[in-house]
This record gives sequence, C-alpha cells and structure tokens, in this order.
Amino acid sequence: MKKTFFILMFLLSSPCLVAQNDYLPTKENLEAREWFEDAKFGLFIHWGVYSVLGDGEWVMNNQNISVDTYEKLPLFFNPVDYNPEQWVKMAKDAGMKYITITSRHHDGFSMFDTKASDYNIVERTHYKKDVLKALAEACKKEDLKLFFYYSLLDWRSDDYFPRGRTGNGIEGRAESGDWNKYIAFMKAQLTELLTNYGEIAGIWFDGHWDQKEWDGKKFGAVKVDWHYDEIYSLIHELQPQCLIGNNHHLAPIKGEDFQMFEKDLPGKNTTGWGTSSGDIGALPKEVCETINGSWGFNLQDKKHKSDAELITYLINAAGYGSNLLLNVGPMPNGEIQPEHIASLKNIGKWLNKNGETIYGTRQGPVAPSGSMVSTQKEGIVYLHLLDNKKDTYLIPHFEGKIKKMTFFANGQKVVHKVDEFGLTFAVPKEVRDDIDTIIKMEF
Ligand code: GLC
Repeated sequence: MKKTFFILMFLLSSPCLVAQNDYLPTKENLEAREWFEDAKFGLFIHWGVYSVLGDGEWVMNNQNISVDTYEKLPLFFNPVDYNPEQWVKMAKDAGMKYITITSRHHDGFSMFDTKASDYNIVERTHYKKDVLKALAEACKKEDLKLFFYYSLLDWRSDDYFPRGRTGNGIEGRAESGDWNKYIAFMKAQLTELLTNYGEIAGIWFDGHWDQKEWDGKKFGAVKVDWHYDEIYSLIHELQPQCLIGNNHHLAPIKGEDFQMFEKDLPGKNTTGWGTSSGDIGALPKEVCETINGSWGFNLQDKKHKSDAELITYLINAAGYGSNLLLNVGPMPNGEIQPEHIASLKNIGKWLNKNGETIYGTRQGPVAPSGSMVSTQKEGIVYLHLLDNKKDTYLIPHFEGKIKKMTFFANGQKVVHKVDEFGLTFAVPKEVRDDIDTIIKMEF
C-alpha cells in the first residue's frame, strides 16, 4: 500500500470511469451508475410457476419434466396472498434500495402480460393478473427502484435453437428452430418490459453460459450470436438510464453498465464456474447470494444462513466495492417464507445503526482480507473488523494524516500510532462486536 493510500482514496472516490470502447453511456446512465453504487443493497426475487413444486427454479431441468407436463404448473399457480406493498415494505425495512425480480426464467414462463407469447401469467393461470405491474406500482409509490431479471435461455421455446448445454433431458423440445425469431421474441418482450412498467432501473440477463462450449474441464466460446449489440442498444434507446448487467461470468461486454458476481465476492470464484479475478472490469459491481441454498422457493432447503453470516456478507461486498443482491424465493401463494422475512428484518436493524458505513461508500483503501475490509467516502475511511478475537492491528506503509480515529459504535477514541511500519491500533475486548467492529477514520 506504500504511498498509495491517498492516491487510492482519490481514484476510488472519483466518478465512475467509462470502461468500454465505443459505447458511450449517457449522462442519465452515468448518474444511474452512481446511484447504483451508493445503493449497496437490493432484493432479488425468484418467482415463477416452478414455486408450486417447491424444488427451486431449475426443477424442469433437474426432474426432466417434459414440456407438456410442465405446462400444467401454471394452472396450479394462484398467488392469492400476493401483496406487493408488503414485499416493498419488507425490502425497505431491510435497508434495501432496489428490487430485481424474475420476469421470465429458464422455464420460459413469462410472469407478465406479454403479447410475444401466450405462455404467460395472464393467459395461463387462474390468477390472470400481471404481478410485475403490481410490483412496479408498489415500488413507484415507495420510491424503490425496480430491475427485471431476464433469461436468455429458454427450455421451452422451439426457436431457442441450437439448444444449449442444459435442459436436454426435457422431452418435447423441438429439433429445429429459428434463432433469429428467438432474438426478435426477446426484443419484443424487452420492449414491453421497458415500455409498460414505467422507469426500469436495470435489466439483469442470465443464461449466456448455456451456450458456452464445455470440454469437461472448462468453458470455451459461445456457439451462438446473442445479438447483444442490438439488444443492448434497444434497451438504452428505450430507457437510457437503464443499467444492463449480464450474468455471463466474463469480463464486461460492450454496452453493459454493471458487472455481476454470482455467489462470490469479486475475484474469488470459489464456485469454480464464476468470474475469474482477471475479468473484473471498472464498472459498478453487484454480488448476488441466496439466504438459504436456493433461488426459487425450495420447501426442503434448510441451509438458512445466520443473520451474522448474511450481515458479514453485505459488509464484505461493500469492502470489495460491490452491492449485495440478496435473494428470496416467494411461495406459490405469493407469501415470502417467514424465516427469510425474519433475517431481512435483522439485517435492516443492523443497517439502521451502521448504514453510514455502507451506503454511499466506495471500496476503501485497505485491501480486503478475511479479518478486515474498508469502505470510504468524502475524507472518511471506515475499517470493518470482522474478527472479534484479534486485539491489535497493523496496516503497513500507512501514510495518511488522521484527524480523528474513533470506534463507530460509541465514539470512543482509538489508541493508535503511525510510524515507519505503518498504522498500529488496539481494539479492547469491551468495544469488540461479534459481527463487525467499525472504526471511523477522519482525514
Ligand atoms: C444461475 C441460475 C439461475 C439463477 C441465477 C441467479 O444463473 O441458473 O437459476 O437465476 O443463477 O444468479
């Protein structure tokens, strides 16, 4: 970190630099990116007819359910207890600033009123209502931004051809199809999503990886042309501020506005199929994670993470300069699992007290490690100490001029020393917090 403490502080707090070659984001788009980076915390919602089976959103693939059989599911999907105002309130109480909801997942079922396919919630369910519309209205009322998740991959559409690596055990898929028609279909749906629901903060693409070559060890190039140029410019033409992200696990592609990391902090790739550290670009970042082990509602999933784990993940994400998009998978009746609601409430309580050290911050100058991450804003650095057993810390080669260094929780001064080795400070037991001991450094 030699000599770089302040240089880094300056670089990291300067407005987002445009990373892409010939895509020039508009002023609205750049402002939206700033908003996005400040927001830090969003709610991911995976909801579809798959929730009826309580076995996650991949159930069609995992149980090899034929196209015909799967088509019965919409008939059982009748979310009479769906209350979008309650969802929005829950998200706000959790300290979340936006919602990203699945508009169409890999099963090909559209959760909105679309003219591009009759396989949608209005035409195929007894509920007959557009759940996205109701959510968009509730979000607008409460000033929460809304993103739409949109699957590139489709296990049902004939025109999704050539097929990808997944869903090949599903009977009833066509043996031929018209790829260009599929692209036109997606463009028609995206046009609807960006025309009929007011201002949309972003589109969250997923499924690119379905078309990547796989040699049994690693992924290669994609087999198809996704027409990203056309699709991305269509989105930006319809709504210039709309942020585009794509869960392709690659470095950002021209036209994208943020980079996402699935179930991993940027650069970690513990899943093995995620984004490698060399592929991190300069765009705003977002990490997505589940509360238990599933995205879509899973009745048997007991891998519920503790509140401490979830809060620590949020802190870590911020320390990596990233947002956290935390997922719930609502039940088929439209309610969110009570355990998930409880966790979100507790995260909200933590943020209520400590939000200053997360919202509106950028990655701090001290590189993240297992025991410490840092965030920063306007002349302030927050050190988040995540190991409550440690009593002394050394930040090597430290060169800043500290005006004030206090424990965030009680304002108590931090005993510290800056010398040729760096910054040394002590954290007495009585001020240590089980989750995060925060130190505020003013410069
Ligand atoms: C993966 C899964 C998908 C899920 C997404 C969320 O891409 O295929 O089901 O929606 O992750 O990050």
